[in-house]
Amino acid sequence: MPLKKLGGSSRKVMKYSPFKELSMPQSLVLPRPFDAHVHFRQGEMMDTAVKAISEYFAEGLVMPNTDPPVSQPGDIKLYRASIMAAADNEHFHPLMTFKILPDTSPSDICLFRNAGAVAGKVYPKNMTTNSHDGVENYPALFEVFEAMQEKNLVLCLHGEHPGEDIDTLDRERKFLRILALIARSFPRLRIVMEHISCRQSVETVLALPENVAASITVHHLVLTNDDVYGQNHHFCRPVIKKRSDRKALVQAATSGCPKFFFGSDSAPHSREKKECPVSCAGVFAPGIVSLPRLAQLFDENNALKSLERFLGHNGRRFYQLPDDPKKLPSLALIKEKSAIASDMGGVVPLCAGQTLPWRLET
Ligand code: DOR
Ligand code: ZN
Repeated sequence: MPLKKLGGSSRKVMKYSPFKELSMPQSLVLPRPFDAHVHFRQGEMMDTAVKAISEYFAEGLVMPNTDPPVSQPGDIKLYRASIMAAADNEHFHPLMTFKILPDTSPSDICLFRNAGAVAGKVYPKNMTTNSHDGVENYPALFEVFEAMQEKNLVLCLHGEHPGEDIDTLDRERKFLRILALIARSFPRLRIVMEHISCRQSVETVLALPENVAASITVHHLVLTNDDVYGQNHHFCRPVIKKRSDRKALVQAATSGCPKFFFGSDSAPHSREKKECPVSCAGVFAPGIVSLPRLAQLFDENNALKSLERFLGHNGRRFYQLPDDPKKLPSLALIKEKSAIASDMGGVVPLCAGQTLPWRLET
């Protein structure tokens, strides 16, 4: 959708005049975006977690690392129904995933699909929140991947190499060999390398065939490791890396390349679980923060024209979702200041307490 100049709040496209031009904020009207990676949790946290996304996005791909996990075919419909109840919003569509465990059976894949799942997710053992039941032996799951390929389900990978004696900063780079092996073994399986965080992931995803894509978070696009030291609210997995890595991620996101799309990895944890000696991994990135912050980033990189692809088109195409902008409700991003709260329902969001140069209007 086009870039427009707005006259105050009237939302009319004004005729050109140098005087009006000075006072008119720039704005961008977009179809509601697709968030290709969200955590909706369970219990008390769910309401905050769901509304943070459902009020701004048309679809959200829902991660299954709840406690207990979404790992049985019967879990899909129940979890979806509780999300719909929390969202209370007919315009929002949760897209369901299941957690692939070491003992997931290939025969369950058909059941997951019939229950409405669109993807299965592998967590490497002990690498992130609720991953004690994760995977160490990827080849042992090849029959599951084969069944997913046949049933046209997407494989989502948290790409960090599990096991002892690997530096945390190297785990994503070392995982890329596993990614390439799976991609070569299953050429018709759609694979998403989730929340990529390093330059080598960008290069590998570009080099692999069309069945491999990647999601990128806003925090990996705007922060570097210097923002994480002493700041538990910026601690997440994969950890945020160097300036050179961020530069490669920004180039990928702003390029318009169909292999890269937005997944916020909005991962709320209570303030108590973040502000403690051993912080949980996860950055809370609700739409009210992520969307204006992305507009700022794309604006600074003269790439506002690519924002709609990154936020909607690329991800919808990869996930084979309907992609007709005319059928989606819209939202506006306006180049006017917005203040970000320092606490949202007991959770500290990304950019807490900051004033951003763009604001969101739904
Ligand atoms: O930082 C993270 N938080 N990375 C993940 O992979 C999981 C997430 C969570 O669930 O909190
Ligand atoms: Zn996640």
